[in-house]
Amino acid sequence: MKNTKHFVAVIILVILATVGLRLLFSFMFQLPTPASEEAIPIDIMFNVHFWLIAFLFGLIMVIMLYSALVFRRQPGDEEDAPHIHGNATLEIVWTVLPTITVIGFGVWAVGVLQDLVKPEPNEMVVHVTGRQWSWSFEYPEDDNARSSQLTLPVNRPVLLEMEAEDVLHSFWVPEFRVKQDLVPGQVTHLRFTPTEVGSYTLRCAEICGTSHAYMLAQVNIVSDSEFAAFIEDAKDNPAQYELAEERGAAWSSNEYLGCAACHSIDGSALAGPTWLNIMGRQEQMDDGTTITVDEAYLRESILNPNAHIVAGYNANVMPQNFDERIATLEADLGAQDIIGDLIAYMATLQE
Ligand code: CUA
Repeated sequence: MKNTKHFVAVIILVILATVGLRLLFSFMFQLPTPASEEAIPIDIMFNVHFWLIAFLFGLIMVIMLYSALVFRRQPGDEEDAPHIHGNATLEIVWTVLPTITVIGFGVWAVGVLQDLVKPEPNEMVVHVTGRQWSWSFEYPEDDNARSSQLTLPVNRPVLLEMEAEDVLHSFWVPEFRVKQDLVPGQVTHLRFTPTEVGSYTLRCAEICGTSHAYMLAQVNIVSDSEFAAFIEDAKDNPAQYELAEERGAAWSSNEYLGCAACHSIDGSALAGPTWLNIMGRQEQMDDGTTITVDEAYLRESILNPNAHIVAGYNANVMPQNFDERIATLEADLGAQDIIGDLIAYMATLQE
């Protein structure tokens, strides 16, 4: 059997290539630290996929390179090579094996997915709202406490009920491995159990307009006692603050209206004009006119953002649903005149 030596050589080379490539992948495609129970089965699947990819790449490359190098035409060999007309056994093998593998992965993945979406008996519900371009979180089990950061107790299963106020967004914390879109007009769900105390970043993973890349929120996984303290803080209702400008500052944060995501208070230009020195400012509009910013102009800009566009900015960037959102907030929290509060706050931003 003079072919045996080639078979043995190829098998050894394929094994070496597979192990070598797998090691290379673990440097090239490092996953973030796993921080949820769900990360365990998902990482196992990643791992098996990486092994399979390494094996297939190694198998094809080794056979191709081995053939090209070892069986190349020798000098002076003018003979025609033997003609081969297919090989039924080989074709059956390379059809059946991949089919079984792909179906196997499919069945396995469905099993894992069913496990991930299964309700847990003691899960905590959190309402998540995504909008251009901020996140807010409400805790219905704790008097609708509200926060612009997602704070969760470690080792307690959570169920996120998620809504988008304008366009598609997507909830993604890479360390938890799970991901779910927010769809306008629907409530979508995501379950996971955080297992590592720490601070993580929620990233919007669905292109949603100008400031998509900045649609981030901090996620804190904390002990039970820290969580209780957080909830006490988050129950605070700005409608009860005494000063209009303090209420306005709270409404403008990501926790409520998210104005601050696009309007800086330090003079820098974000997706919208800065609020620093806004009151009384002469604004050049894109139609060449000039407007002096006063209360009437600010009200109009909040309720009907496309009425006038400041030169250098774009129309349709500011969401046009602030009238509804402000009305909902006023009804929910017993606030009087949120726009008035916002304008009172803007008027204090002078230097
Ligand atoms: Cu929201 Cu991208």
